[in-house]
Amino acid sequence: MIKALRGMKDIIDNGNLYRHIIKICEETAENFGYNFVEIPKLEETSLFIRSVGESSDIVNKEMYEFKDKSDNSICLRPEGTAGVVRAFIEHKFDKAGGVRKYFYHGSMFRYERPQKGRFREFHQFGIECFGENSVYEDASVIIIGAQILKRLNIKTTLKINSLGDKNCMPIYKEKLVKFLNSQTLCDDCQRRIKTNPIRVLDCKNESCQKALQNAPLITENLNDECKSDFEKLKEILTKNNIEFEVDPKLVRGLDYYTKTAFEFVSDELGSQSAVLGGGRYDNLVEYLGGKPTFGVGFALGIERVMEILSIRNKEEKRDGIYLCALDDKFIDEIYSLGLDLRKKYKVEVSYEAKNPAKHLKSADNLNKLIFLCIGENEFKNNEIWYKNLENGDNQKIKLSNLEGKLNEQ
Ligand code: HAM
Repeated sequence: MIKALRGMKDIIDNGNLYRHIIKICEETAENFGYNFVEIPKLEETSLFIRSVGESSDIVNKEMYEFKDKSDNSICLRPEGTAGVVRAFIEHKFDKAGGVRKYFYHGSMFRYERPQKGRFREFHQFGIECFGENSVYEDASVIIIGAQILKRLNIKTTLKINSLGDKNCMPIYKEKLVKFLNSQTLCDDCQRRIKTNPIRVLDCKNESCQKALQNAPLITENLNDECKSDFEKLKEILTKNNIEFEVDPKLVRGLDYYTKTAFEFVSDELGSQSAVLGGGRYDNLVEYLGGKPTFGVGFALGIERVMEILSIRNKEEKRDGIYLCALDDKFIDEIYSLGLDLRKKYKVEVSYEAKNPAKHLKSADNLNKLIFLCIGENEFKNNEIWYKNLENGDNQKIKLSNLEGKLNEQ
């Protein structure tokens, strides 16, 4: 039997949940002025090496990278930001100036070791805002994330940090490297000291975490501009009732961040606790060959949200109509009635005549709200058997009154 590849999952019995999540994400982003973009899933490998960064795990170990038939090195996108920035520059919006805001959703690919909440193909909903320097937009991006999670009824903790800018970060890195070189750290950390020392702060190894207890913190080494932006961000969030924790060790796994970095984490997911992550990336457009342009955004992991919602909401809400007949001779009748009702309602028509108990069981299994059935008596009297499977309302009603009854729901 041919099976899906390791770490790749079908969304087959929970498609409605997927669409529900996307709908809430889209509505929320649109209310903040973001517009839909769709960009290719395959890009030149160099795009990700230059943006996500050579020192990141994504580029180092996780890229789905291969040669096409013309021997070009191409890569399935591991994340969405790089591609949106590439498109932004390619369409010369960097030169046009002004503020542009985009949202997207779709597959991302990372060759990671699969585990709960971690897949090789997964889906993100992401937003990216270009050309806005104001820290109010950092706050808006965070608040969009908070509103989406609140509407989905997902409890998370928001962690925020500032990663400084190209002036203060190098000075901090030097201080940090001096400190790290005086500690005993794991092999991975030793490698990171050379490639990207701030990633050492992220190490999950317990003995490394102990060694890092007295490490210098970026939040104490910010220059005036970064410090005042970070203070203002905290003030805006507080004023607007967004709870957060400052985590000076939050560095994120991608190299392009400057100033604001944040993550919403859930304790319902085990070790893969990040549900949504993002931040500011003011150097990325220039770094990829465009005119210097501010950038800020986030991405939400859709499978992680689905995981939390399906752990909790095993009881899905009943929805739609189950329409059936007790005898084969009425199937034509209910088929036509079904076509009519489907102009307005979601209707599942059973083509099989069964006894009432079996039909009721099928309707229940399909999680339908309304049961409608025609038998000999109903047919004779121009009636239909109506049952609401949630509140038990059970009666015979005239077919001419059916629509009125259904509209009561
Ligand atoms: P990221 O933190 O790498 O950021 O990914 C965002 C979210 O995608 C994570 O918080 C997580 O929920 C989900 N995710 C990541 N890897 C996996 C995986 N292997 N399986 C399932 N879910 C996963 C970015 O991708 C940035 N582009 C976000 C961004 C946008 N920053 C600025 N703009």
